[in-house]
Amino acid sequence: MSDRLETVKSLIAAHPDFPKPGILFRDVFPVLRNAKALRMLIDLLCEHIKSTVASADIIVGLESRGFLFGPMVAEQLGIAFVPVRKAGKLPGKTVSVSYTLEYGTDKFEAQEDSVKKGQKVIILDDLLATGGTMKAAIELMEKLGAVVELCLVVIELDDLKGRNKLNRPFYSLIHY
Ligand code: PRP
Ligand code: ADE
Repeated sequence: MSDRLETVKSLIAAHPDFPKPGILFRDVFPVLRNAKALRMLIDLLCEHIKSTVASADIIVGLESRGFLFGPMVAEQLGIAFVPVRKAGKLPGKTVSVSYTLEYGTDKFEAQEDSVKKGQKVIILDDLLATGGTMKAAIELMEKLGAVVELCLVVIELDDLKGRNKLNRPFYSLIHY
């Protein structure tokens, strides 16, 4: 593992039994308390995108922790940022999809005019657990006619095998 990745990983905290008994919660927020580590993380994400994706139009960030890194990556790459939000938060016409995650169920929405047919998107989130959230985001983007070039997360919980649900190019920086 590279020095930069080691630095970022060393800052990720683990909280047993949060938000429910039996869940070991991986907390990425301490990385944001360290400006140098945050810059390393954004650089690592951008470097992976540049080396694997020929061209992309949009970084799609998933509420809420995908909003932390998505706009920073989009700005560094010089492309758009589009949010996918939990139901009822976005104005105008929306498309929606329901999904299950490691500790519950939820509904995601995107604005109908946020992505044009054929646009190439990279979906970004902090963490992949069961993969339900990422799978829902893929479904939502493809409903809008987007082409999902890459699904990218900072942290992957390997035991849950969420990546097997995606059937799209996928990459994670840090594994537990
Ligand atoms: C967390 C995390 C991912 C999702 C992963 O979000 O940020 O989005 O769970 O779980 P999955 O792979 O099992 O679907 P959460 O829904 O807790 O929302 P938050 O980001 O608003 O805290
Ligand atoms: N989202 C789903 N499972 C999670 C976990 N174990 N830690 C942090 N976020 C999560």
